[in-house]
Amino acid sequence: MKVAYLHLLFLNLSLVKAVLLQSDFTLRNDSFWENFEAYVDTKHLNEEWITSEATNEEGAKIYGAQWRISQGPLQGSLSDKGLVVRTNNAAAMIGHILETPVNVSDTDTLVVQYEIKVDNSLTCGGAFIKLVSSLVNIDALKSYSPDKEGVELVFGPDYCVPETNGVQFAINKVHKITHQSELKYLKEAPLSKLTDTSQSHLYTLIIDESTQSLQILIDGKIAMAREHIEDTAKNIFKPPISPLLIIPDISVMKPHDWDDRILIADPAVVKPDDWNEQEPLMIPDPNDPKPLEWDESISKYIFDPEATKPSWWEEAEHGEWIPPMVKNPLCNEEHGCGQWTSRLIKNPKYNVPWEPSQVINSNYMGAWQPPEIENPLYYEERHPLRIENQIKGIILEFWSGSPNMMISNIYVGKNVTEAQIIGNKTWVARNRVLRRLDDSTEHKFMNTRLGGLQDTLHSETASLNFFDRIIDCILEFPKSLLTIAIVLLTTLSFCYILFT
Ligand SMILES: *[C@@H]1O[C@H](CO)[C@@H](O)[C@H](O)[C@H]1NC(C)=O
Ligand SMILES: *[C@@H]1O[C@H](CO)[C@@H](O)[C@H](O)[C@H]1NC(C)=O
Ligand SMILES: *[C@@H]1O[C@H](CO)[C@@H](O)[C@H](O)[C@H]1NC(C)=O
Ligand SMILES: *[C@@H]1O[C@H](CO)[C@@H](O)[C@H](O)[C@H]1NC(C)=O
Repeated sequence: MKVAYLHLLFLNLSLVKAVLLQSDFTLRNDSFWENFEAYVDTKHLNEEWITSEATNEEGAKIYGAQWRISQGPLQGSLSDKGLVVRTNNAAAMIGHILETPVNVSDTDTLVVQYEIKVDNSLTCGGAFIKLVSSLVNIDALKSYSPDKEGVELVFGPDYCVPETNGVQFAINKVHKITHQSELKYLKEAPLSKLTDTSQSHLYTLIIDESTQSLQILIDGKIAMAREHIEDTAKNIFKPPISPLLIIPDISVMKPHDWDDRILIADPAVVKPDDWNEQEPLMIPDPNDPKPLEWDESISKYIFDPEATKPSWWEEAEHGEWIPPMVKNPLCNEEHGCGQWTSRLIKNPKYNVPWEPSQVINSNYMGAWQPPEIENPLYYEERHPLRIENQIKGIILEFWSGSPNMMISNIYVGKNVTEAQIIGNKTWVARNRVLRRLDDSTEHKFMNTRLGGLQDTLHSETASLNFFDRIIDCILEFPKSLLTIAIVLLTTLSFCYILFT
């Protein structure tokens, strides 16, 4: 009873804290920001963040990777917790239904931002986020499979030695005539930074619908920017965003008399009369005569004299019973028997099949190309970056290439300033601390953690009120419920004395 109450109290405190830390700025009512601070443990996380249980044809789970909620070195701060992929070399997926679905209009700016920290070195893996229009409830997440339609946008870093290393972007386009959906990938992808394990990295995608422009930022710095994509979309996406204007007419067949042989047999060369192709490649070795003691009159195999017809054998049903064959015991190493065959050797008279030399074909007409026609399914896409459908959920889905990769501070919204504020309050703060931890000794770490780190936190979040500090202080302690039960009251008074 008491433990349950404390658990509830603890949960409430972290929720209150999350709200309070946001209190110096208010998110738009259709912005989504997940910093994972509100979750006490993985079980709690799994009520809101769902991994698909879809199985493949063999009945195995498609997404084998496990997730957990993780606590970083900044316990209790805004940039402390994150979502961690525990499993290496597995398909990873976890998703969340947006409370407020996001409509992106032609004048909106869409921002997708999240933070990734790779803990172990990575040779092949990604960390994609997908915005999905087809997910309506938790059951849809539980049965989500890779071929499900409705992925409107894919964004995120991808690394695989040696050929892949980039921040990918893809957008769903519905063909205006055939109504088929297809993800169009931006061909160019800025380098991912995913192999840098020394710090966490912040990935930001900004789509400005009014100018049809696109920016990819890494750690707050522009890594790629493209404006007025409607003019270049044909070349910079694969497959192209607008259908091709001119296409080959595949209904026209290659004419029978079309000569596309570049080389032909030289008509001037004739096969020599004495070219004998009849001789076999291998012949019996004349120097391997039959040994004198070899007896061809005795057969090599005989019916097994010891075999007897099984009692169940019915001639009428099973046919005549024939005993199995065994090697004739009269045949042995010294006294061979059966038909003698010499070993084979290469035939010195053998000739390779005659082939005339090749010359360039003077009638060569070039490779066959069907005629080109105007594509009947052509249309011009003037809004290549338009998000076609309402975004109802977000999914993290990728091949996990490193255990303990952490993802946090997922922002999906329509306000660049909000994303910048979140970046400054979380990613900047976290890396300041990571850098400190990196170049300080264990001993120094213990001291700074209680002294210097608190300074960092408080200068970083200067507007924290008294209540925040109490909660920060509580969250500094290990979260075993029994410990909390003992520690909670003493901490409260301790914090009170410390901060007043
Ligand atoms: C969100 O805010 C806008 C104004 O900024 C308002 O028009 C709209 O009704 C609000 N939506 C909800 C669900 O509160
Ligand atoms: C969002 O889009 C859906 C359909 O795409 C529409 O029904 C809904 O009214 C839109 N909501 C807003 C707030 O524009
Ligand atoms: C964007 O967010 C900032 C900071 O919260 C706010 O001042 C501004 O009004 C927002 N702009 C829009 C268009 O919502
Ligand atoms: C931090 O804020 C500044 C100014 O608002 C902005 O220019 C910068 O991009 C922000 N940093 C991040 C990582 O968002």
